[in-house]
Amino acid sequence: MNYRHTIEYTLLDNWKELNESDRVLVDKAFEACSRAYAPYSKFQVGAAVLLENGLIIEGNNQENVAYPSGLCAERVALFYAGANYPNVKVDTICIVAKGDLLPKENLLTPCGGCRQVMIETENRQLTAFRTILISQNNRVLIFNSALDLLPFAFGK
Ligand code: THU
Repeated sequence: MNYRHTIEYTLLDNWKELNESDRVLVDKAFEACSRAYAPYSKFQVGAAVLLENGLIIEGNNQENVAYPSGLCAERVALFYAGANYPNVKVDTICIVAKGDLLPKENLLTPCGGCRQVMIETENRQLTAFRTILISQNNRVLIFNSALDLLPFAFGK
């Protein structure tokens, strides 16, 4: 086997450079982030998912005193979308965070479990979707497919 995967991404200095529709999504992700339930890590994460019908689904991390019972913001949002709009494609997910767990200049990149769920969403809808990541100092990293976030993912 000769598998090659070139990872493609776009970096921007500030999310204010994004177009109007992406800026709305970033705002929604920040709003979701401010409502996160993260009393244990004190690291709040917000995700906003734009569906192809224009609807925006918001999610945030939900922690639990039994730590593994909590769930990341990305999965809260994507599972809500899958549960309630199973036939509507995801167009873009935007993810933001607030807290001292990461240096302010670090982009919040989704954990491995969330990346696998993102790939499942792409496989389910037969279409790639964009991921917009924002650092706490407002930098932007954009991927056009979850495959760029998890090459060699488990699955078909
Ligand atoms: N977290 C997310 O919600 N998304 C990520 O991409 C990484 C981590 C959450 C899990 C936990 O509630 C907190 O951030 C600290 O890891």
